[in-house]
Amino acid sequence: GAPVEVNISKVEPGQLIRVEWRGKPVWVVRRTEEILANLATLDDQLRDPASVEEQQPAYAQNAGRSINPEFFIAVGLCTHLGCSPTYLPDTFGEQVEGVPSGFFCPCHGSKFDMAGRVFQGVPAPLNLVVPPHQYIDDNNVIIG
Ligand code: FES
Repeated sequence: GAPVEVNISKVEPGQLIRVEWRGKPVWVVRRTEEILANLATLDDQLRDPASVEEQQPAYAQNAGRSINPEFFIAVGLCTHLGCSPTYLPDTFGEQVEGVPSGFFCPCHGSKFDMAGRVFQGVPAPLNLVVPPHQYIDDNNVIIG
């Protein structure tokens, strides 16, 4: 599949946009400072908080699982059996107390934080996949 170029300049804080790459949904989410601060508090609730498993390129093996912390880019498929998790920008706290936003898989209840890191105690074994990507400038990123 060909790489896909995405203009991210109009993505609002907290918004998720979807693009397709190699027949898969890819998400681009603009994270706020608040979201990034919350991520730093979750390690002991997560299965692989430091992203040791190779579910991302080496350049995204960091706290935000990203190149630019403001934008989280992930393949939107659950690592359990491949359903597409639902983005809950406001109501994820009903799934994990104290965590306002995240991703919830409707198929068997797996939960992921705003860096796509899987919570403990759910069927999904691994963090969401971060696809290869690179920025061509501040407003445009190439997936693939
Ligand atoms: Fe997502 Fe099973 S496919 S929890």
